[in-house]
Amino acid sequence: MASYFFRDYRRFYATGEAGIRSKPRLNLRYEAIFGENKDLFEGARVLDIASHDGRWSMAALACGAKSVVGVEARPEMVDHAMANLEHYGQDPDRFRFIVGDVHEVLGSEDLEVDVVLCLGFLYHTLRFNELLHGIRRTGAHHLILDTQARRMLDPEPYVRLHREASQRIGTAKADVYTVGASVLTGRPNLAAIELMLGCYGYEVERLSDWPRLLADNPDVSGCPDYAVGRRITLRCRNADDSAA
Ligand SMILES: C[S@@+](CC[C@H](N)C(=O)[O-])C[C@H]1O[C@@H](n2cnc3c(N)ncnc32)[C@H](O)[C@@H]1O
Repeated sequence: MASYFFRDYRRFYATGEAGIRSKPRLNLRYEAIFGENKDLFEGARVLDIASHDGRWSMAALACGAKSVVGVEARPEMVDHAMANLEHYGQDPDRFRFIVGDVHEVLGSEDLEVDVVLCLGFLYHTLRFNELLHGIRRTGAHHLILDTQARRMLDPEPYVRLHREASQRIGTAKADVYTVGASVLTGRPNLAAIELMLGCYGYEVERLSDWPRLLADNPDVSGCPDYAVGRRITLRCRNADDSAA
């Protein structure tokens, strides 16, 4: 059964926007992202892409990470993240949040980490090559992706284009390529994700077992996308373990 991780960190129910449609959903996401990958975090240096209110940075530290760096484009969300981690007594030497566009930050900062979290972000961009190149530059041996993946079983790789309104917290933030209020984004299916990962030296190790998580927690509502495989959680590893 779900451990309800966020019962001990209730501030995240109030400060987060994305995923707060249902508290059980947030807690079950914790099981899929961390519960099934606990072995990755002890002593690890972690990069949290699109760190929002610091929820997953907090979870990484609680799972034994040595340090975490969050990158988030919206300064008000970084304020929440800082306040949340301070509130929960985290050592300020173990966490840092950078305000900025993740593609720019990955290109300009020399971040060296062991594990990258890319949760709820891949479908908010079309700049996949910059993103994956930046992830590879960190030298991470593992990447955890939590993302939408329509037509997951379709063997043909494709990316469905979207025009995303950028004003709402939780959506794509306008970047240097944005004209007006909409950001051009794309949603790759699983075949496209695998293809892109392969180009940057990563491969899917396994998918989190959402069918089992949902079967074990029948009271949890708010996960229809995970239930039908329209959203998935992937554990990926650096296939040659020599990223530079
Ligand atoms: C759907 S939320 C995901 C939050 C969290 N990672 C999760 O999975 O629950 C997307 C987050 O990405 C942030 N974001 C959007 N565009 C960004 C960009 N170009 N660089 C960094 N963060 C961005 C948003 O501000 C928001 O906090």
